[in-house]
Amino acid sequence: MLKPIEIIEDLFYVGVNDRTKALFENLWPLQKGVSYNSYLLNDEKTALFDTVDICYSDIFLQKLETALKGKQLDYLIINHMEPDHSGSMGLLRLKYPNIEIVGNAKTLDMVKGFYGISQGVRLIKDGEELSLGKHKLQFHLTPMIHWPETMMTYETTKKIIFSGDAFGTFGTLDGGITDKQLRPEKYWNEMIRYYSNIVGKYGSPVQKALEKLSHLELDVICSTHGPVWTEKKNIAQVISMYNRMSKYEADKGVVIAYGSMYGNTEQMAEAIAAEIAALGIRDIILHNVSKRAHSYIIRDIFKYKGLMIGSPTYNNQLFPEIESLISKLEGLNMKNRYFGYFGSYTWAGAAIKRLSTFSDLPGFELVGQPVEMKQSLQIDTVEACCALGRAMATRLNADDN
Ligand code: FEO
Repeated sequence: MLKPIEIIEDLFYVGVNDRTKALFENLWPLQKGVSYNSYLLNDEKTALFDTVDICYSDIFLQKLETALKGKQLDYLIINHMEPDHSGSMGLLRLKYPNIEIVGNAKTLDMVKGFYGISQGVRLIKDGEELSLGKHKLQFHLTPMIHWPETMMTYETTKKIIFSGDAFGTFGTLDGGITDKQLRPEKYWNEMIRYYSNIVGKYGSPVQKALEKLSHLELDVICSTHGPVWTEKKNIAQVISMYNRMSKYEADKGVVIAYGSMYGNTEQMAEAIAAEIAALGIRDIILHNVSKRAHSYIIRDIFKYKGLMIGSPTYNNQLFPEIESLISKLEGLNMKNRYFGYFGSYTWAGAAIKRLSTFSDLPGFELVGQPVEMKQSLQIDTVEACCALGRAMATRLNADDN
């Protein structure tokens, strides 16, 4: 039987690792797996923070029973209802029929809708408190990080924030649970990918939540995914990353995402990239959208200020993989990027028209003249691609002044 891990006095990790699922939300690749974090505060009263995906209920309930050390479970605090965290709630209620399920009005509506539970629940409001004995909890509603019911729970004695999805990462916890026990640098890119893929649409609610958190002293961050953050420099880093990403701020660099059936559009991308490099930009990432999962392309688009998209015309539309990528970016409210685009066709052009609509997204600043190529790369198209690359590099370099 797996043992729970004591993070600090009275606080136990009872979460699990998922190295089995291929896709998170059946959409985003899990090459390094993911953890579903759940925590128990074992005080005079006992409180559990979120549960885990139903596939792991058995291991989770065993860990919980050990961490309780023979006590009853008094409260289940629900910070987030997405089933990767609420999935074990029904089985938990069967095992501990007297637990009180604590959540806000939107949460309790979902508890009833997903699990048919409407008895033994406690409705809390923003700012309300609950004492467990030595430990006192404060509830802070933080809607849309990542669903409308999401909230964070602050423990006032040890200054712990149970933050839900916020500050979470993809990647399993291999042995260690806290940042002191593992190498945080393994997780930074996976934090950006998690944020951009899952929470990226909700920049404005994230800003509101960060404003709320700025009034609290934080010594421990217990997210529902990835490491527990305990070191001051890491706590500062994760908050700073969330602040930048939620404002759609990014580093100097360019992502060139292109579709290409036979390599002609890819040659346009190569010509553009070479010219950008010639003007001193070092971070240039070319993504062939048919070869790279969009999850990683979106991560890089959140990292870099310049974005260029190229597509052949396919069935009188965009290349389907490019259409899929830009539809995801539109869904994420992507903004605040320098944008350039290019496309190709054999007998009738359509790609450039659709990319032109995409370039109208709020906060997109168009750079250079879009380039449309018929059939194959000729000298005039090379020159047009170079001009487009120069326009992007010049715009990025201008920010240095
Ligand atoms: Fe980890 Fe929004 O669920």
